Amino acid sequence: MKISVITPFPDTIDSIMNNSILKKAQEKKIISYRTLNLFDYADSPHKNIDDYPFGGGTGMVMKPEPIFRAYDELKSDPDFCNERVIYPTPDGKVFNQEEAHNLKKYDNLVFICGHYKGIDQRVRDNLVTDEFSIGDYVITGGELASLVILDSVVRLMPGVLNNIESANTDSFESNLLDCSYYTRPEAYRSLKVPDILLSGHHKKIEEWKLEEKKNKTKKNRPDLWLKYKKEYDVE
Ligand code: 6GU
Repeated sequence: MKISVITPFPDTIDSIMNNSILKKAQEKKIISYRTLNLFDYADSPHKNIDDYPFGGGTGMVMKPEPIFRAYDELKSDPDFCNERVIYPTPDGKVFNQEEAHNLKKYDNLVFICGHYKGIDQRVRDNLVTDEFSIGDYVITGGELASLVILDSVVRLMPGVLNNIESANTDSFESNLLDCSYYTRPEAYRSLKVPDILLSGHHKKIEEWKLEEKKNKTKKNRPDLWLKYKKEYDVE
């Protein structure tokens, strides 16, 4: 998969891409990525990437030309096919694990990072295929949101995680949050691991884990719990 990030702040993207799992995925040639610095596609001499909104109002809007030009450059590559063009924005559809599984199937993911009041609507209407929000709060720009989305996608690609089974039990894979985990020592400062986990009774342990997942979901995510109940027809 080729990942391209159109952004005025490429360093923010580099700092995360060159560490941990995202770096390993590149070393294993499962993904490659590039950034396109929006200022390189802006008109000289001022190199403006934003301007005042038509019709008035506060805040600036990102100009369409630098974004269209950066996209044209991507499109000129003969390998640019089977793509999604993602615009992270607080007014988009809320991103979730199911969308992450969907996006892992594409050969090219393009992220357009907005700032200020966002990007000119003509870019959204003509280039963007997916508009995603990462939750009900506002952050200052699209870079962190793009990184959140692409991390969630890349870790699902075959070969990226050493232990794919571990990912199958993650929160959200089954409309249930994940259970609690403990490791050695068995007792630390008189804090003990639940007896059941030390019992060696695998069936009982699985039952305990499922119960934990259900209780946590009921408490923290009543919305997910409703979905789970519907799906599995439980009370
Ligand atoms: Cl995708 N962008 C920004 N700036 N804020 C957000 C968001 C995205 N999702 C939630 N808040």
